[in-house]
Order: sequence, then structure tokens, then C-alpha cells
Amino acid sequence: MALTLTDEYFEKFKTTVYEESGICFNSVNRVVLEARINENIKRKSLAGFDAYYQLVKSNKEELREFLDSITTNLTKFFRNESQFVSLRQVLPQIAAKKTAGNRVIRIWSAGCSTGEEPYSIAITAGELGGALSGCTVSIFASDISLKSLITAKEGRYRKDRFENVDKAIVERYFDVMPEECVARDNIKKMITFDYHNLKHPVTFKDLDIIFCRNVIIYFDAESQKRTIDRFYEALGPAGYLYLGHSESLFGMTTNFKFNKLDDAIVYTKGI
Ligand SMILES: C[S@@+](CC[C@H](N)C(=O)[O-])C[C@H]1O[C@@H](n2cnc3c(N)ncnc32)[C@H](O)[C@@H]1O
Repeated sequence: MALTLTDEYFEKFKTTVYEESGICFNSVNRVVLEARINENIKRKSLAGFDAYYQLVKSNKEELREFLDSITTNLTKFFRNESQFVSLRQVLPQIAAKKTAGNRVIRIWSAGCSTGEEPYSIAITAGELGGALSGCTVSIFASDISLKSLITAKEGRYRKDRFENVDKAIVERYFDVMPEECVARDNIKKMITFDYHNLKHPVTFKDLDIIFCRNVIIYFDAESQKRTIDRFYEALGPAGYLYLGHSESLFGMTTNFKFNKLDDAIVYTKGI
């Protein structure tokens, strides 16, 4: 039977999650934290909250696994399609400004979950072909969830995940099997997947585009601002930032500029 999370352990686990990831639990989503902790206690055959808390605090792998278990990894191919329509305009513009010796468009998909987002970016670039003036596209895709990253790296998805994607496009970039579709090298080679916790500093410089969609919505205002400031530093002078549909920089002190490209909102440094 599931144990009821006491106020004391809610505070302890909530503080650990916040300090380690920026993800913020409150009275509204407390039940989600309680459910995940209960599942973990059961799976590990532990006596209760204290035993699990001590384990998480004393063992880095257990901490990672715990953080992984409390993340929301919901995603889909071409989620918020208007942003991919705008990406089709943005990529050739970036390509046109690239000079000999630097013909790589560098994109970061931060909080990429199971990979649908970076593969959608890679497909968008692939479909532009010659419009990219000979530039290659290099996508760094990262997440805090190791389980999600394994799926992303594998690039193997159930067929029903492609219901909103044109069949001809799926066939150009995936091997279509009876039950599932497997990403081909033509998009896989564009993407590097790795673990990165947005709570920690980044070493990137001069990126062209950052996608960080439906991630900072789980952070509190302070973690959101720190993350956005880091994105600003990581982007080149003409960089673009895409956030999720229900996320915005409204009310935040930032140098990013607000732009509307058709139906999509995109933040820029230089325009
Ligand atoms: C709802 S998914 C969004 C996936 C994709 N960006 C999209 O919009 O479809 C949120 C992802 O953010 C990741 N995430 C949450 N906190 C993070 C952190 N501190 N660092 C890196 N990734 C984080 C989660 O593991 C999860 O996979």
C-alpha cells in the first residue's frame, strides 16, 4: 500500500529536487512527487521514506535515478508545428551569414527528452537541403533523464508516434518496420546526445539556436532566470531561442528581444 508523504519528508525531497535540478514541487504537484517516491521505495524494497531519502542523499547514482523518475518526459515529433515553420525561414538566414571555414549551424536542444525534438530539427534541416548554402547542421541534444536519452540515442519509435508527420518524410529519415520506425544515419549523424543538467553552467559559446521547450515551466522564477541568462551567454550575437508554447520571458529582466515569425514566437539576441 502507498505511504502518505509526511510534511517533513515532502520538504526534504522537494528541497533535494530543487537544489539538484531547479525543478520545483509545491502543494499542487505534491501528489506526483509522492507517487514517484512510493514507486521507487516499492521497486527497491525499502522500509520507507527515511531509508529512501538516506539512499538518495548518500549515492550519486541513486540521486540521478531519483531525479530521472520525477521528470515529465512528454514530447512529440514537430510539437508546436509553427515553430518548425519559422525554423524553415531561420535556418537559411543563418546559413547565408556563415563564412568559409565556419559552415556549421550549431543548435542545442536542451531538455530533449526521448529525442523527438532534435530529430524534428534534423528533419527540418534535411528538408531544406541546398537552401542551407552548403552548411552542415550540428545538434547537441541533452537531458537530465538517462532513460529518455537511451531511447533518444536509439531513435526507435512506435509507429503511432508519427501520426502527425507526412508519410513521405518519415520514409526519408526512418526505416519503417511493421511496428516501429528507426532513425536513419542521415538524421542520426547530425545529433549528439548527452547528459546535461540545466542547473549547472554550460561551456557552449556562439550557438546559433537553442530550443528549450517545456522545460523551464517546471522551474521556479530564480532557476528560470539563471537558465535564460546562461542561454544568452551561450548564443552567438545573432542567436535564436525557442521556448515552449506556454513559456515566456514576460516579466523577466533579460536582454533577449521578442519576435513574432508568422505564428511562432522566437527570442533573439541581435535582431
Ligand atoms: C516535457 S519534456 C520536453 C521535451 C521537449 N523539449 C518538448 O518540448 O517536447 C521536459 C524535459 O526536460 C527535462 N528536464 C527537466 N529538468 C531538467 C534539468 N534541470 N536539466 C535538463 N533537463 C531537464 C526532463 O527530463 C524532460 O525530459
